[in-house]
Amino acid sequence: MERQIFTLWLIFSSQIVLADPAGQQNAIEIYSLRVDSKVTSRFAHTVITSKVANRANVSQEALFEVELPKTAFITNFSMTIDGKTYPGTVKEKKAAQDQYDAAVSRGQSAGLVRSSGRKLEQFHVSVNVAAAAKVTFELIYEELLKRKLGKYELLIKVKPKQLVKHFQIDTHIFEPQGISFLETDSTFLTNELNEALTKVQGETKAHITFKPTIAQQRKRPDLEETLLDGDFLIRYDVKRSVTAGDIQIVNGYFVHYFAPSEIPVFPKNIVFVIDKSGSMIGKKIQQTQEALQEILDDLNPEDHFNLITFSRKVIAWKPSLLPATEENVELAKQYVGTIQAQGATDINDAVLTAIHTLNEATAAELLPEQSISMIILLTDGEPTTGVTDVHTIQKNIKQANNEKYFLYCLGFGFDVSYTFLEKMALDNGGIARRIYEDADAALQLQSFYHEVATPILKEIEMNYLDNAVEEITRNNFKLLFNGSEIVVAGKIGNELDVFPVEIKAQTQMNNLTLKEQVNVTEKEEIFQNQKYIFGNFIERLWAYLTIQQLLEKSVSAEGEQQKMLKDQALNLSLKFSFVTPLTSMVVTKPDAEEVANKPTEADNENVEGKRGHFYPTLISLHKGNRIFGSRTGMQGLPGSPGLFRIPSGSFLLQRVPLSDERYPHFILQLPGEDNIVCLNVDPPLRSLLSDPDKGIEVTGQIGEKLQFKHFEVVYQKAGVKLNVSKDHILLDHNGNATVLPWTTTVSFTVQGLKVIIEEEKSVSISGADNITIKIAYVKFPERFLGLYFIGSENFSDQVTGHLGEFYFNTHFETGFGDWRPIVVQGRNYPTNRQARKDYRVESSIDTVSCWTLHIRP
Ligand SMILES: *[C@@H]1O[C@H](CO)[C@@H](O)[C@H](O)[C@H]1NC(C)=O
Ligand SMILES: *[C@@H]1O[C@H](CO)[C@@H](O)[C@H](O)[C@H]1NC(C)=O
Ligand SMILES: *[C@@H]1O[C@H](CO)[C@@H](O)[C@H](O)[C@H]1NC(C)=O
Ligand SMILES: *[C@@H]1O[C@H](CO)[C@@H](O)[C@H](O)[C@H]1NC(C)=O
Ligand SMILES: *[C@@H]1O[C@H](CO)[C@@H](O)[C@H](O)[C@H]1NC(C)=O
Ligand SMILES: *[C@@H]1O[C@H](CO)[C@@H](O)[C@H](O)[C@H]1NC(C)=O
Repeated sequence: MERQIFTLWLIFSSQIVLADPAGQQNAIEIYSLRVDSKVTSRFAHTVITSKVANRANVSQEALFEVELPKTAFITNFSMTIDGKTYPGTVKEKKAAQDQYDAAVSRGQSAGLVRSSGRKLEQFHVSVNVAAAAKVTFELIYEELLKRKLGKYELLIKVKPKQLVKHFQIDTHIFEPQGISFLETDSTFLTNELNEALTKVQGETKAHITFKPTIAQQRKRPDLEETLLDGDFLIRYDVKRSVTAGDIQIVNGYFVHYFAPSEIPVFPKNIVFVIDKSGSMIGKKIQQTQEALQEILDDLNPEDHFNLITFSRKVIAWKPSLLPATEENVELAKQYVGTIQAQGATDINDAVLTAIHTLNEATAAELLPEQSISMIILLTDGEPTTGVTDVHTIQKNIKQANNEKYFLYCLGFGFDVSYTFLEKMALDNGGIARRIYEDADAALQLQSFYHEVATPILKEIEMNYLDNAVEEITRNNFKLLFNGSEIVVAGKIGNELDVFPVEIKAQTQMNNLTLKEQVNVTEKEEIFQNQKYIFGNFIERLWAYLTIQQLLEKSVSAEGEQQKMLKDQALNLSLKFSFVTPLTSMVVTKPDAEEVANKPTEADNENVEGKRGHFYPTLISLHKGNRIFGSRTGMQGLPGSPGLFRIPSGSFLLQRVPLSDERYPHFILQLPGEDNIVCLNVDPPLRSLLSDPDKGIEVTGQIGEKLQFKHFEVVYQKAGVKLNVSKDHILLDHNGNATVLPWTTTVSFTVQGLKVIIEEEKSVSISGADNITIKIAYVKFPERFLGLYFIGSENFSDQVTGHLGEFYFNTHFETGFGDWRPIVVQGRNYPTNRQARKDYRVESSIDTVSCWTLHIRP
């Protein structure tokens, strides 16, 4: 039961991509921009139409950029140029991927949707517009508004970036239950602009229009700048009577909403499990402390609680849960103030300890009989000590918890594996949420707590006559929180006159049964002759909800079961033309095709955020030319004699901050499936690879942040030099230099060498020898460059250099545990098995399990 304030953000902009040489302002003019949103019974259908004209006398690129909620599904996009419409089509992701790959190989940019901020994703597409020509862009998306803390919220972020002659936001809301309150709010409305806002509210309908004239949009009468830059919000709730919820029916599909009020809150038993590993140092731990102080104050006297902090060691504040008396809360707050961050991350042990404390307290009958037990885990990193394999942790916790307690997982920042936390939460009846590293992180934590702080019902069953419904969405819920809402949709089977519904649930006091007989004809009549509704909206709402639930279920499923769930979700996405994580939309342009994919929360990872996790201390002592590896917290592991033979120089593996180790400088795939080496090198260094036989020379330079800031690839025979930095790509061909920006996607051939630049992603160069040298522009967590070779088996036996030497005459020897020696051209280095970030695949957030090696010249 995920609960989020439902928000809708849109950013409109159209920019001049290729500036007119004469510097003409607004040569691409948006002369009309409309947002039409129809919200019928919480289901919102939004159409954005932008009309632009090229006022210049040369052809130019027009960019259409919109930000839409992550929770929405795009359903259509089209462009109309010179009266001809170019529609988008939704396809299975695999099928679309081929088109995507073809586009990339033709040198076109690909990927039209990217994650952007907390709640948004950005859709952008550009098209070439002939002189004096016009283009109409139209984007449609749909979403189900979710009730959170007592309201639905529609947030529209407006940012046209220029004055627009016809600008209009038009929102129609139709709620058959009746609108109990409705408010509009904005961050940019001045008194002037307020006059452009009209709000008409009736019993069940509301119509909100915002239509500022050019004069009203102007920041100052003498300026061309627009005031329209900020948030536009609509918040509302609906009326509810004390019945078995509300049923609505359109064309054989029903939706059932249930959100009772005035039910007492269950006492809760809550264990906060707080990561205090090294990476939490500074602001994060401060914000966590701040949030905890407030949250502790919010506990009710009937609640019980405990605090567990963890890094390498797991420490429980008290051996058991304590009642949230004023005195205990005060003591806990003092304790929170003393938490200090340092060390590694033992998630497995921490959560198991929380489960154990709850088990003990339950067995000792310390907790109220009718109460809800939950664990809130807050972590900002991946497990680095104790059990570190995420699948094993998930299994351990699921087994130990055995559906007894609700586990909520909060991932702080982008350095966590959201996928890992999400599965763990969903496996244990909870949800996962990301906390963004921002000034308001403490508020985000508190607000999440408030959402789960008020369980009012448990074991909720929404029942319908067995033979009366088909294809029903989820109808059993473990918990319902005050201020949220249960939604069930399905198909009504037979020709029914009366549709019976029954709700069973447990409150703190008693068992609740609510029954109602719904007159189908009466309910269907509500939506007849309503100009606000669009088609079979309940059927689409049903499909939307079903797809979301199937995707969520597939997270916890495995094997065949998982495949079947995804298949069903895919079939529905295609049938209803929804761009979901399983489908893509192929957008046709006059001269090309592009692909829009839906990013998932995990794609978001490591877009920003800082790191600083510490690995467990690794100490290797060497005696003579033998090394003994040992890990603190474990018994010393004597190396078998001769295992680590180091020719010269010492090899001291020490506590290494992850910031220079998590992103390995190089990821080398050596022959053999499991033989991946993650290599870091210390400056100073120049020559990375030199293969005189192939005439290839690669050098690099490390910047302040210990990441590569510069690479140079030289093809001596062809006289081609490629110099790549974070700022630009410099191509030198026999002394003629060309500067290529990272902001374009191009491919071309120079002296038989194929060069492909993917906009802000990578540049690669390949020759006839089937060796591709690819330099990836990694944007997170700090901008740096990654280098890798494809077809490295084709290097000759003369290859040398810090990196090059690994590509010839290198092999692993048998090791012990997660230690294994690698022999590189006769020299022996110890390597240690670790998980590292894998940036070989664009936008991948995956980790790679590799043999890590840090060379210090
Ligand atoms: C295009 O416009 C520029 C500046 O507005 C003008 O100098 C130029 O002559 C025009 N070119 C043509 C072909 O009309
Ligand atoms: C998408 O929009 C285009 C252009 O308006 C239309 O032809 C097409 O039928 C729409 N597709 C769907 C699935 O609604
Ligand atoms: C439940 O939520 C409503 C708003 O939807 C609020 O007015 C009320 O105070 C809440 N009750 C409790 C016990 O939190
Ligand atoms: C409520 O129902 C549950 C499950 O059916 C049962 O175990 C419990 O005793 C009931 N409680 C009351 C107060 O009737
Ligand atoms: C349902 O409502 C309609 C219209 O109000 C009425 O004619 C019909 O008799 C009702 N059906 C039942 C079973 O009550
Ligand atoms: C999905 O659709 C395909 C083709 O229509 C069908 O063969 C398959 O059985 C469907 N899968 C599921 C799980 O519904």
